[in-house]
Amino acid sequence: MPPTSLQIATEREETIYHPAPLITLQPGRGAHFDLFIAVPTRAGQKYVLYKSADLDFSETKRVELIDRGVKFLYVADADAASYFSFVDRTVGEVLRNESATREERSAMLYKTTAALVQATFTRPDSPGLIKTNRTMVEHTIQALEADPMLLRTLAATFALDYSLYSHAVHVSTLGAAILMEIMGTEARVKEAAMGFLLHDIGKSRVPMQILRKTTILTQGEMKEVERHPEYGVSLMKPHIEVGPLALEIIHTHHEKLDGRGYPRRLPPERLSIETRICSLVDIYDALTSNRVYKPAMRGIDALTLMRDKMYAELDMGLLKEMIKILGPRDKK
Ligand SMILES: [Fe+2]
Ligand SMILES: [Fe+2]
Repeated sequence: MPPTSLQIATEREETIYHPAPLITLQPGRGAHFDLFIAVPTRAGQKYVLYKSADLDFSETKRVELIDRGVKFLYVADADAASYFSFVDRTVGEVLRNESATREERSAMLYKTTAALVQATFTRPDSPGLIKTNRTMVEHTIQALEADPMLLRTLAATFALDYSLYSHAVHVSTLGAAILMEIMGTEARVKEAAMGFLLHDIGKSRVPMQILRKTTILTQGEMKEVERHPEYGVSLMKPHIEVGPLALEIIHTHHEKLDGRGYPRRLPPERLSIETRICSLVDIYDALTSNRVYKPAMRGIDALTLMRDKMYAELDMGLLKEMIKILGPRDKK
């Protein structure tokens, strides 16, 4: 696992480096930004210039890195906007390329979006990053529309990886797929998918030692975690790309239909269909992902548990939609 941008930010306050997964660096497409490689040191690791902005990222370099077992290069914060606009362009090209396999399209979407979310957690104030979140959401919706079976390929990898960042990708992909099942590809779906992707962005304000804790949280720590929907709203409100529906999802994704959710204990009539989808998928992903303190449940077992034990707090009609799109086949 690469260190998180947050860790890097703490260790080297002068420069923040964002991980750039190798899969996002398409060779010969004009990657005009500096790329760094992480070199282990006694104190941790340092970042050494691997390719300067004036050189292209070549196929030879890519092969050499694969041979060395390198999976990530790094981009300095000052270059994050150029890196992500490069990624936006090249992801679009891969997705439109008819000879790319479903697995290649799935891996590209997944790894790129997770890297983007990780960078956004470090820099939630960056308009460039938020704008790229928007274009990645659009790529995802277009790709799912062009090939509905892509969802299964994506979902098959969900249990393998859990981090705050990959969780965001799982929730946005599955949430968008359910919403598309109900309302096609209206503009509203894109706005909701932004909310799904950024639903936990407020956790970037919660201290890492609380988020990483694997033992029971104290009451004070629990309260701090439960502030993340409100932190999220205040972080995202200034961004024009995050509309009212996305803000509402960020604010209400932990509310429950029985009125016992947080932070506002809202009654069910205040919970939109998009918010209900976010809660549903959020819980499903938590149950079906491997965590430090528990192994992943099988998709079918998670859906059964949600149906039998959570009917008072979750929307059962939407659960049926989710079962429909995940099909009889298991998530694993
Ligand atoms: Fe949350
Ligand atoms: Fe979540």
